[in-house]
Amino acid sequence: MKNDLVLRAAKGESVERTPVWLMRQAGRILPEYRAVRSKLSGFKELVETPSLAAEVTIQPVDILGVDAAIIFSDILVIPDAMGLEYQMIPKKGPYFPETLKSETDLNRIHISDGSELKYVYDALSLTRKELNGRVPLIGFAGAPWTIFCYMIEGQGSKTFSNARKMLQSHESFSRKVLDMITESTINYLKLQIEAGAQMIQLFDSWAGILGVQTYRSFGISYIERIVNALQGTVPITVFSKGAHFSLEDLSKLKCQTIGLDWNTPPKFAREIVGNNFTLQGNLDPAVLYGNGKDIVNRTEQMLKSFGKNRHIANLGHGVYPDTDPEAVKLFIKTVKEFKHE
Ligand code: CP3
Repeated sequence: MKNDLVLRAAKGESVERTPVWLMRQAGRILPEYRAVRSKLSGFKELVETPSLAAEVTIQPVDILGVDAAIIFSDILVIPDAMGLEYQMIPKKGPYFPETLKSETDLNRIHISDGSELKYVYDALSLTRKELNGRVPLIGFAGAPWTIFCYMIEGQGSKTFSNARKMLQSHESFSRKVLDMITESTINYLKLQIEAGAQMIQLFDSWAGILGVQTYRSFGISYIERIVNALQGTVPITVFSKGAHFSLEDLSKLKCQTIGLDWNTPPKFAREIVGNNFTLQGNLDPAVLYGNGKDIVNRTEQMLKSFGKNRHIANLGHGVYPDTDPEAVKLFIKTVKEFKHE
């Protein structure tokens, strides 16, 4: 590998400088991505065509100079593989024509052995070949709780109150669904690793809407099963957005890296999780709407508060779609040129 900084940082090895990549870097902000995307019938065609998925995965490596590539796909391919098909509605987001409402709907889904998602593995092996060792390739999946949210609700929501209600009012049904998602995700991630993913990130985008006990019981316990099933393979990152209240629980996981959103102060997190984890994050993505001086200052402040080792620089959530690519380049340049005292 020509540049394995991200992998070394994840394993807690010393690094010459802090590595950097951005959540949701593939697509969204690049005109080059939109050029590829506009020639197609939609998002799904891009995800399901390995040569094109590989192309847009590598774009940010070439154009932005990030230290890792993340495979172009979506967390919602898992419900799709389990039998609950999603659609991607332009300007609106994901939509599931059918959702899970009760026990009888369980016969509409199955545990995926991963075979439905061959297009993802093909995209991963092709990307590995085309990257040719330039930077590591990250595979990913949604965490069970976040996937459950979409399977119950059928679309985005600010509160996912139907999913939260389901946990309390139909616990046994909810656990059956969470179990099926967990098993499918384990099968899927093992095959991603076989196909060439060198690191795995679990995205729990809706962790922050649960309370400490509920997230422990319905969120982290399923993440733990996934993390345990992947022991001895590749480094794992768990990003539980909004769950600063669960850092102590998260620090019991056998993962290497914990992702932080921008609401969580780096020093606060470090004190709770201890020195055996790498932390990833956590610049507020809105900072990239500011002027150049602010972007540089805020990025340097962030780097100082994490310290040199056991940090992978990133934003505190995905880069916003209307961010100027020049602002992203400045963020990356600032990280790359920063010298810790
Ligand atoms: O990092 C990357 O860019 C790689 C690809 C990636 C996508 N989605 C592509 C995508 C990744 C890692 C995801 C993860 C994802 N998808 C999450 C977890 C991370 C997070 O942001 O919290 C979630 C919750 C989803 C579900 C999803 N997919 C939503 C809510 C939307 C609509 C809004 C949006 O984010 O644009 C999507 C669509 C989607 N996924 C797009 C892309 C590039 C835009 C669709 C398009 O180009 O037509």
